[in-house]
Amino acid sequence: MEKKNIDWSNLGFTYIETDQRYVSHYKDGAWDEGGLTADANVVINESACVLQYAQTCFEGLKAYTTADGHIVMFRPDLNAKRMADTAKRLEMAVFPEERFIDAVHKTVEANVSYVPPYGSGAALYVRPYLFGSNAVIGVRPAEEYQFRVFTTPVGPYFKGGAKPITIRVCDFDRAAPRGTGHVKAGLNYAMSLHAIVDAHKQGFDENMYLDAATRTKVEETGGANFLFVTKDGKVVTPKSDTILPSITRRSLMYVAEKYLGLSVEEREVPFEEVQEFTECGLCGTAAVISPVGKVVDHGKEICFPSGMEAMGPVTKKLYDTLTGIQMGQIEAPEGWIHVVC
Ligand code: PLP
Ligand code: COI
Repeated sequence: MEKKNIDWSNLGFTYIETDQRYVSHYKDGAWDEGGLTADANVVINESACVLQYAQTCFEGLKAYTTADGHIVMFRPDLNAKRMADTAKRLEMAVFPEERFIDAVHKTVEANVSYVPPYGSGAALYVRPYLFGSNAVIGVRPAEEYQFRVFTTPVGPYFKGGAKPITIRVCDFDRAAPRGTGHVKAGLNYAMSLHAIVDAHKQGFDENMYLDAATRTKVEETGGANFLFVTKDGKVVTPKSDTILPSITRRSLMYVAEKYLGLSVEEREVPFEEVQEFTECGLCGTAAVISPVGKVVDHGKEICFPSGMEAMGPVTKKLYDTLTGIQMGQIEAPEGWIHVVC
């Protein structure tokens, strides 16, 4: 199929409307058959649960063009599972996992002309989402839901691509103990908006959130998990019940251990230890791995030895191996690559 006339190499992380999206409705206890539509607008009642009580959640994954010209998605089964977990936590109707995979597959297939070409550095971002759609006024879950999927071509999440970024230790909390930090609820992002606007105003690219209970341990950023590298070359990632279980992070830890032969540790990371690390990266679908050059804690700067010019060597190896797997140049572990066409 002919590609759209888009300047693929200069895409940012912004919304560009594509041709088709998927929609399925839940009513009277069952999901309808679902299907594609060209209409990008959603019409719902003024008192829909999503509008009044933020009963909404989402997922994010990417479709890529591989070196040999196929269109593939990365581990959509894990997004399906995570959305099911999120839906249960928010008392929403669960969209069946096998139907989730079929829906993202169909949506990507219908927008193939928007999948950036191999080598452009861009990808087609796929955004499944689910929300309570009928009118409620007492605080309770909706009885009707919409599951939708749209796509949009994207470039790097942070301006400058692989250039190291500067983040600050944030005075706002992202997730409460026993709250919703471990699921992909829209409300987690609504409450991070003030913190990110403030961070940008102060000249920082992102926020480093600490654990809300003690404010002594590293959690994650607004949209990515952390990876650190120790002086002796171990890859460390924070373990916490209040962070999102990133699919990219889980994949990178596997890659670090099984492909690169590195030691890996998923454990609590005291903020005090951050100054000891040699490299720091943010990992997620949107971020891929974005290197962090500097963390600023109320004026005190922690500068990683990897510097502000380029990714550190371990981060670079992880990045190259993961993207090599995603683009089909390196053999993927069983089940990681879903071929669309
Ligand atoms: N943490 C948060 C808060 C996120 O929003 C995301 C993005 O999905 C991630 C981490 C990274 O998760 P994943 O690698 O599954 O995209
Ligand atoms: C993703 O990486 O898919 C995210 O959801 C992060 C951000 C865009 C919210």
